[in-house]
Amino acid sequence: MKYGYFDDQKREYVITSPKTPVKWTNYVGTLAFGGLVDHTGGSLICKGDPALNRITKYIPQLPSSDFKGETLYLRIRRENGYNIFSPFYVPTLDPYDKYECHVGLGYQRIVSEMVGIRTEVTIFVPPGENVVLRDIRLTNIGNDPVELDAIPVVEFTHFDALKQYTNADWCPQTMTVDAEQNDDGTVLLRQYAFLKKETENNFFTSSVPVDSFQTDRKKFLGDNEYGTWKSPRELQNEHLSNYEARRGDVIAALLHKLGTLRPGETKRFVTQLGQDAPEAVSTTSKKFQTLENVDAVFPNLGNFWDDYLSTFQCKTPDAAFNSMVNIHNPRQCHTTFNWSRYLSLYQLGLGARGLGFRDSSQDVMGVLAGIPDDARRLMRRLLSVQLPDGSAMHQFFPLTMEANEGDSREEEDGKKWYGDDHLWIILAVCAYVKETGDTVFLDENVSFYDKKLPLGQRESASVLSHLQRGLEFTKTHIGRHGLPLLGFADWNDTVNLPGDAESIFIADLYGRTLLEMIDLMRHLELDEFAEEYLADHASMKERVNAAAWDGDWYIRYFENDGSPIGSNQNSEGKIYTNAQSWTVLAGYADPARAKCALQAVKEKLNTIRGIKLSWPGYNGYDKSKGGVTSYPPGAKENGGIFLHSNPWVMIAETMVGNGDRAFEYYSQINPAAQNDRIDEFECEPYCYPQNILGDEHPQFGLARNSWLSGTSSWTYQAATQYILGIRPQYDGLLIDPCIPKAWDVFTVTRHFRSATYNITVKNPQHISKGDVSIVVDGEPIEGAVVPVAAPGSTVNVQVELGMPVFSAVK
Ligand code: GLC
Repeated sequence: MKYGYFDDQKREYVITSPKTPVKWTNYVGTLAFGGLVDHTGGSLICKGDPALNRITKYIPQLPSSDFKGETLYLRIRRENGYNIFSPFYVPTLDPYDKYECHVGLGYQRIVSEMVGIRTEVTIFVPPGENVVLRDIRLTNIGNDPVELDAIPVVEFTHFDALKQYTNADWCPQTMTVDAEQNDDGTVLLRQYAFLKKETENNFFTSSVPVDSFQTDRKKFLGDNEYGTWKSPRELQNEHLSNYEARRGDVIAALLHKLGTLRPGETKRFVTQLGQDAPEAVSTTSKKFQTLENVDAVFPNLGNFWDDYLSTFQCKTPDAAFNSMVNIHNPRQCHTTFNWSRYLSLYQLGLGARGLGFRDSSQDVMGVLAGIPDDARRLMRRLLSVQLPDGSAMHQFFPLTMEANEGDSREEEDGKKWYGDDHLWIILAVCAYVKETGDTVFLDENVSFYDKKLPLGQRESASVLSHLQRGLEFTKTHIGRHGLPLLGFADWNDTVNLPGDAESIFIADLYGRTLLEMIDLMRHLELDEFAEEYLADHASMKERVNAAAWDGDWYIRYFENDGSPIGSNQNSEGKIYTNAQSWTVLAGYADPARAKCALQAVKEKLNTIRGIKLSWPGYNGYDKSKGGVTSYPPGAKENGGIFLHSNPWVMIAETMVGNGDRAFEYYSQINPAAQNDRIDEFECEPYCYPQNILGDEHPQFGLARNSWLSGTSSWTYQAATQYILGIRPQYDGLLIDPCIPKAWDVFTVTRHFRSATYNITVKNPQHISKGDVSIVVDGEPIEGAVVPVAAPGSTVNVQVELGMPVFSAVK
């Protein structure tokens, strides 16, 4: 493989060259404390909120060769001066004999061999701690003793990230670093912006004595003489100048003289970059100066991931599928759950973005089995930015819980709400209750958002009432065809139609939420509501089929004047994927229309790199259609392969029983299967990107915006719940696979409500979907739902797929 390989045993992807097409990244810690690390050791670390409490200065737009956030220099004393190099390749770019970056679960391990030194650096955030550790081991693999110095460096940012990038003088004038020398020779550098002096201090320290330090970038690089990160001038001196910065571009550089390393000898030390209250820093920073404490916490990380991943492990005939479903996709779900669309190389975590209501609601669905308590907490936060009328604020800052209306604020006279936001949380809450059985959550009281009132004085209602108000909002905000109003936008942020435009996608999403709520109401024995929602579903189904069937597929929008978008009548934007998949997911399409609409997706929208969002792309800016027309055809929402919408087609295909096609759609976007074209793809092979340029674009196949995408949660749901078909229900686990006909058998181990289900599904007749016969611990059961087993028990579930059945929707 060109840039690396999957090591499933160790649950790592191993990058074997630093010269990947773009930086490939990984995440350490959580949103509470953590961030991203790239494969050449750069890091972007934040605590609680990347916009409001950022710690390292990482500027993604700088060239790949540049210093970003953090690095490590080594230097060997020679007769004529120092041989200085970075074992991460960047920023010194020296030749290397070996380079590996092990992209692990919650850690990054960079291993290199250069200039006779083998370096191994493991970067991680111990679970629950506000500190990132770099565990550094240096071995002399040459034949002669060497005098070795190690100089880890961090560059700090002002905590208000946007101000750092835009404010010329306020930031540098307020940045400070104080140094404290400990009795054991270690040095603690404390960094703060002046106004955080009494509240929060960043700190950088290490576990071994320090010769000297530097905290001012200008002095370290020797800026007066145009020194660079590639060759910092101060590293030519025997000592750094022990300067405590009182303003400027502040850094933390600690020079460690490790003494003589004999051939074969290893020296180890650990650095810490953390944040705490000023009075706590001295004590906090002591903990990981002891290597035993570092050794004790690293396994906790592995234990967390063991637990998290053990909720669903499968073995199918497809290795790339197994790799993604068992390791990389659930890890990505954990990442999107934490950082939503907020912080990556592409999502800069600046300005007024925060966590998105619709995005996070969908992210929750990807982690329910692994971290249900965290999921519930995030859902509570989301519900607390829902408005009393049932609609929702578009996004919020996690630190302050201040919410805003997203891009809809840009249009002065347009609607200030998105037609879909409030519906997604219904799917999340229902999925949570199915996973956990926790109906008590539905009775919890949560306030509605009102910026003008303090928390205690806001109107509040039960979680269930929040969901019902969401339904009510959509039901009562409808246009000329009786279809839901678009508002500023729906899931497709970039189609912004003035006036009272209608959205078929929202009608579909509403239909899907109604199906979920009917199920929930029946479970809670609230039959009147169940009846009401059934009637609402039937009514919307009728309207969609009456107004939006275009002959061969479903229309996507109606403009204010009633003209369609996503119709054969249009010359651009004739067909949109989501109107087809979601009409099936909503249970609106009868079998004939479902098949026909999905066939149109196959013929008009599918490519070998994935399914496009629409076709043909708009070729020219048109304000009346919105932001979609600001992209060239084939890019992003304008006819690009917007991956988030691909799993919805997979799910729809499983609903019509087409397992081969669902799997083909799965495999064509599986990043683990892109190796042979990785230079064209560019992004990481171990996580989904948000988009791939479509076939109308000259760079067809190029992936962008990796990691933070709803693709993660939905592809995970498509694979586990619809292709493998192991789907939580209120009363047990439904077994409803829709697989490639060629598969003989697959197995799944599923932890569900504190019991373990070892499931084997056999496919002797080589069909995709059929009636299942199920034997639980030797006893045949009726139907397809394995009942909830006693907590702590392990049950053996043997399933056989029988004669095919066809159902449009299940
Ligand atoms: C981005 C947004 C998401 C939206 C999608 C399609 O991923 O974060 O909310 O649904 O684009 O426009």
